[in-house]
Amino acid sequence: MQTYEIAVIHGDGIGPEVCQSAIDVIQAAIGNSKLLAFTEYPAGAEHFLKTGDGAPKATMEACRKADAILHGAAGLPGVVHPDGTEAGVDIGLGLRTQLDLYANVRPIKLREGIVSRLRGREVGEIDYTIIREDSEGMYASRGAGAVVREEMAVDMLIVTRKGIERVCRSAFEIARKSNGAPRDGKKRVTCCDKANVLRSFAFFRRVFDEVGEQYPDVEKDYSYVDAMTVHLVERPDFYNVIVTENLFGDIISDLGAVTVGGMGMSPTAELGDHHGFFQAAHGSAPTIAGQGIANPYGTILAGAMMLHWLAERHGDASLTATGNRIEAAVSRALAGGVRTRDIGGAALTKDVTAAVIGELRASVEVA
Ligand code: IPM
Ligand code: MN
Repeated sequence: MQTYEIAVIHGDGIGPEVCQSAIDVIQAAIGNSKLLAFTEYPAGAEHFLKTGDGAPKATMEACRKADAILHGAAGLPGVVHPDGTEAGVDIGLGLRTQLDLYANVRPIKLREGIVSRLRGREVGEIDYTIIREDSEGMYASRGAGAVVREEMAVDMLIVTRKGIERVCRSAFEIARKSNGAPRDGKKRVTCCDKANVLRSFAFFRRVFDEVGEQYPDVEKDYSYVDAMTVHLVERPDFYNVIVTENLFGDIISDLGAVTVGGMGMSPTAELGDHHGFFQAAHGSAPTIAGQGIANPYGTILAGAMMLHWLAERHGDASLTATGNRIEAAVSRALAGGVRTRDIGGAALTKDVTAAVIGELRASVEVA
């Protein structure tokens, strides 16, 4: 049997707590098998403080060699480079560019047991996926902008035909395999941009249209990003898949997350053609770190996404089944009322871990 090597980066703040919870759940799901081997590598703000390097080369190389990467969260306020940008996030941002992770897949799904902050929205009404371009856009300028005489500053938004094509293809493929939008069952990809104002976005939209022609079975839809923030609040059920530039995706995915319970409920899969990087979309939440109260569901769900990605990549059906079992166990734990403070309960991180593992075991006994 193959063993998949998983590089683990715990990171800062609540990172280690939620990451360990996800690993415990995955270990429980695979039983005593050697299907996955987890190896930890250092990175993040604490590591930067110790060594002056938040994204060590050795960690980068280990991630490149691994079959997948699991991450807690990184970054701490005040731990910054001389230019004022955060040092702790060098690891995540570095992996995106160095491993060419171009599609950041962020499912926004309201699950049973979660009360949406959107009044009256029920389970089944919010279920869409944001595909955030992850390798270029506004973030392309990280470390390469300029401040002139402390009077002016510039960062450039860069999009390429290749970059837009591949992320749009990912979006249409995901829509094709999906059940469509909750409202009407239509498979639909919405291009979220600012094509009314900037050439880069008008270009993004043209390339989106070109790619979309190859997917006649998927409806094409458009929204300017400012309007998108209104639509995601007023008619989330209309959406199936949304594709957008890097910075816009960063922003609207937080908005989406807060409609389905908050950042703690938001897993992400950052995918390239050869590498996959999995984490929750939330940050390191230093104010609640070390108290054992962080919500690990997002990272556990990211773990399930990792298993699904590995399954598809290696044609390994047993991994698909394991990913499905973890997701189902999460759903049952949530439906059973196991909620951390951020989602209206009093459960501790370890209570969630234990509940999800308990559900996994119960499902094996029934099966
Ligand atoms: C995210 C995060 C990162 C980003 C930070 C931690 C650099 O907010 O993954 O959404 O801005 O992309
Ligand atoms: Mn973000």
